[in-house]
Amino acid sequence: MKKVTVQASKTYDILIERGLLAKCGGLIAQVHPRCRVAVITDENVDKLYGDRVCNSLENAGFSPCRMVIPPGERSKSLAMLAKILDFLAQQNLTKADLVVALGGGVVGDVAGFAASVYLREIPLVQLPTTLLAAIDSSVGGKTAVDLPAGKNLAGTFCQPTLVVCDSAALDTLPDPVFADGTAEGIKYGMLVDEELFHTFRAGLNRRDLDDVIARCVQIKADLVHQDEHDTGSRQLLNLGHTVGHAIERCSGYATPHGHAVAMGMVVVARAAYALGLSHQNCTPALLEALDACHLPTACPYDGEQLAQAALQDKKRRGSQITLVVPNSIGYCYRHTIPVEELRSFIGAGLGAE
Ligand code: GLY
Repeated sequence: MKKVTVQASKTYDILIERGLLAKCGGLIAQVHPRCRVAVITDENVDKLYGDRVCNSLENAGFSPCRMVIPPGERSKSLAMLAKILDFLAQQNLTKADLVVALGGGVVGDVAGFAASVYLREIPLVQLPTTLLAAIDSSVGGKTAVDLPAGKNLAGTFCQPTLVVCDSAALDTLPDPVFADGTAEGIKYGMLVDEELFHTFRAGLNRRDLDDVIARCVQIKADLVHQDEHDTGSRQLLNLGHTVGHAIERCSGYATPHGHAVAMGMVVVARAAYALGLSHQNCTPALLEALDACHLPTACPYDGEQLAQAALQDKKRRGSQITLVVPNSIGYCYRHTIPVEELRSFIGAGLGAE
C-alpha cells in the first residue's frame, strides 16, 4: 500500500491501493475508533460500492447510516448542503462522530462542506472513486458548493482526517470521466514534474495507477503544506483553471471540469509563449499529452466570451487577476495582470491576436 502524508492544520494520510474500499472500515477504525458514521454518496457510486463500504464499516464495528444524493454538478448546491445537514442532525451525529464522503468531486465537495459546518466541524474521511477526486479534490481540504453566479463560490477549508483511495474503483469509470481526471495529472506534470508529464504523454495503464496517483498527491500535499489557505504557492494548482472555469461557465457547465482545464492549459501555454512569458514553447508537448489522454484541445469560445466569464471567477482579486503560466514543462509560475489585460491575454492564447 502506498501512503502519502499531508502536513497541514491536520496531519493525515492518503492510502492508495487496489481493493481498499473493502477494507476501509478497518483503516478508518485505526483513526476513529468507536464513533457513528454517516456515509454520503451518490446514486451511481452507491450501486457499485455503497454496500461494500457499509459492510466493511460494519465488520469493523461501526453502525453506518447512509445518504444517497443524485449524481452530477447540480447536487453541489446550497439546497443539497441543507439536506445533508438535516440528515446529520436527524441521525444525531455529534462532534465525536464522522462523515465519510464516498464518490467523486461533487460528493467530496458538498459532503466535506457539510462536515465542516455541522456543529462547527465534525471529522471527515474521503473515499474518492474518480481519478479527479483521487488526485485532486479529496486532498487539501477545499470544500464548496456552486452558487447561481458561479462555480465553487461558497466553501470552506476542512482537511479530512484520512483519505482512502481504492485505485480499482477507477476501473469502472466511463472513459470520459477517467479522461477528465488525467487533465489534473497533466497539470501536476506541467507544474513541477517533467517525468510525470511524460508518463501521461505516453498514455496511462488504467490498471497500474498507484505510483502515478501517489506522485500527484505528493505534489499536491507539498503545495498544501506550504500554503494551506491558498494565498501563495497553492495558487499554482490553478494552472488552466481561470480559462477552464470560464469555459465551464460559457458551456452552462455542460463541459466537464477536466476537459475545460485541458483547453484552458492550451490557451495559457500558447498565450504565455506568444507574449514572451515562457522560455520554452510548451504547447506542442501539451497538445500531445492531452491527445494521448483523449482530452480536447480546441476552445470553442472567443476571447470576449471567455474574458467576461473569467472576470466572475473567484481567483480575481479586485482589479487584478493572477494567472499561472508555464516557463517550461515542469516549471510554472504565477503572473498577475490587470483585469483589463485578460481579454488580450486570452486572445493571444486563442491565436486571435
Ligand atoms: N484544486 C485546487 C486546490 O485544491 O487548491
